[in-house]
Order: sequence, then C-alpha cells, then structure tokens
Amino acid sequence: MLIFAASDKGGTGRSVTSANLAYHRALAGDDVCYLDFDFGSPTAAAVFDVADARQDTEDRGLHAYLIGEVSEPARIDVWSETEHQVLRFPPPGSGRLVLMPGDVSGGEFATGDENLRRCVDLLMTLYYEFDLVVVDLSAGRSYAVDMVLEATAQPEMSEVTARWLVFHRWTRQHVGAAASLVFGRRGIVAGGVDRGHDEEALRNSIRFVRAAVPDPESPLWSQVSPTQSAWMRKTDDDLKQLASNLGIGYSQVLGSVPLEPVLQWREQLITDEDVLDSEIANQDTWTALSGLAKRLTDDESWEQA
Ligand SMILES: Nc1ncnc2c1ncn2[C@@H]1O[C@H](COP(=O)(O)OP(=O)(O)OP(=O)(O)O)[C@@H](O)[C@H]1O
Ligand SMILES: [Mg+2]
Repeated sequence: MLIFAASDKGGTGRSVTSANLAYHRALAGDDVCYLDFDFGSPTAAAVFDVADARQDTEDRGLHAYLIGEVSEPARIDVWSETEHQVLRFPPPGSGRLVLMPGDVSGGEFATGDENLRRCVDLLMTLYYEFDLVVVDLSAGRSYAVDMVLEATAQPEMSEVTARWLVFHRWTRQHVGAAASLVFGRRGIVAGGVDRGHDEEALRNSIRFVRAAVPDPESPLWSQVSPTQSAWMRKTDDDLKQLASNLGIGYSQVLGSVPLEPVLQWREQLITDEDVLDSEIANQDTWTALSGLAKRLTDDESWEQA
C-alpha cells in the first residue's frame, strides 16, 4: 500500500508522525519504505538518526533520481545505519525499514513527462517490493503533491492502493488550511479529478490526522487557573465544531496524536524504551501512534463515513 503524507502548512507534525508510523509498522513485521518527497526541506534523515549515512548519499537521493541524474535513488537501511542505539536492535520479527532520502541541495521542481515516468516506475517498484510505502510530501499544494496525483492517475497504477493522510495541528488556522488543501477550489480532490481520478474514490482515500493535540484534561495543564481551564475546554469544543463544519470532523479523522513533550523538544522516533524504561515519553503517545499505524491498512477505518 502507498500512503501519501500531506499538509497544507509546514510544521504540522507530518514528517515526524509519519516516520513514527513507518517505524511502528516495521516493528509489527511489515517491510516499510519511507520516501522523502519534501523536496524543499528533506529532513527525514534526522528523524531516523541516519545523518551520516545521508551525507554519503547526497546527490544520489530522490531528487537526483526524479530529475534523471541517477538511475536508482539511494537507500538507507535504518536498522543498520542509524546512530540511535535502540533502533540498531530491532526485535525479532521486525520487517525492513528503508529510508529513501531527499537531496539537501535539491529544491522544488516542476514536473515534466520524464519526471512523471520515473515517479510512476519508482512507486510501482516499491509497491510490489514493500508492504507499506510512506511518501512524505512537501507542504501545501506543492509540485510533489501534483506529481503523485498525476502518477496515481496513470492507467498502470489503477490497481495500486493509495491512501492519503492530511496532517494538521489543532488550531483554527490549521483546521481551515487542512480542509482547504483537500476540498478547496485548487485542492487535492479538485486537482485529482482534473487528472482523471474518480472523485468518490479519491475522497474515500483521504483521512485527516490531528498532530500535537493538547488535551485540556491532561495533567500537563493541572496548574492552570479555573478560568484558563474553562477557556481551553470551550476552545477545544469550538475547534471540534469548526472541523466538523468544514468536513474534517471525527468521521474523517484517522487519529490524533497528543502533544508529546519529547517531540516538542526533538524530532525523533519514540521507542518503547522511551516510554517504559527511561519514561521520558508518554504512554498515550505510543498508544496513539500504534493505533494510527494499525488503522492505515484497516479497511473498516476507511469505509465511507
Ligand atoms: N505529537 C507531537 N507533540 C509535540 N510536538 C510534535 C508532535 N509531533 C510533531 N511535533 C514537533 O513539531 C515540529 C514539526 O513537526 P514536523 O517536522 O514533523 O512537521 P512537518 O509538517 O513535517 O513540517 P515541515 O513542513 O517543515 O516539513 C517538530 O519539531 C516536531 O518534533
Ligand atoms: Mg517535514
């Protein structure tokens, strides 16, 4: 299955959350490939802690492949290349976890026929090689988004299962922006239909993910005054109403990831060691990520609402 990770705004938690989802699926035994299609700002290598390996692959990454400078994009085997000690010892039964990095010197580019062909070839090859392929797309209605909309509309990709996750933070602006990225006049649905996608099928393949969501009931906020607490609850309810009015309410949400102090400070994979041994990360974060990772391929979560 292909999973496209999109967001209207930057800094939504798209990359960090989708890298953690890839990690959870690999722990569960799937062979997973993570593609950094954030051409303007490829940062996945830092999340997987493979900065050194990424330097060795500079100018051989996805950007170089798509513009035709190399015939195959570089691959980094995360388990063996990571500098994160816990990740170096995946539990028995884990699947592969492969990162295809971007090129730091890359940048955005407009898609021509050749780039498109290479993109289709790559997605098709990886679709058959891996159980799950996660593609982190540049923010907004970017070239990367257009390219994969165009690629997945090609006849040879018609049998491929592709799903979209649209990430947003839990604020007024982010909720509005996520809705307009999908349903707006120049949004993903309209752009997909223009390229030949079936509207209903495309709509049914898109779900929203709320990232870094503060829970007014959390002990994190236990010190706030009663007035502040009441305001937070009211604002949270208003946001739920806004999301629902904009068509991105509960039935369209695949999951929410709570505000996690570790991720607030550092972009990384959250391991069970962080939760159970050092206890720096919250159990709720782990539970949310693992539930979300399962629902990616759980057809019931993708039935028409
Ligand atoms: N659940 C969370 N709780 C707290 N902080 C989070 C959470 N998820 C992500 N973050 C933090 O938010 C910041 C933005 O996340 P991330 O880089 O994943 O966003 P992005 O949408 O990929 O941004 P960009 O468009 O710049 O690529 C990072 O510092 C990350 O660690
Ligand atoms: Mg990112």
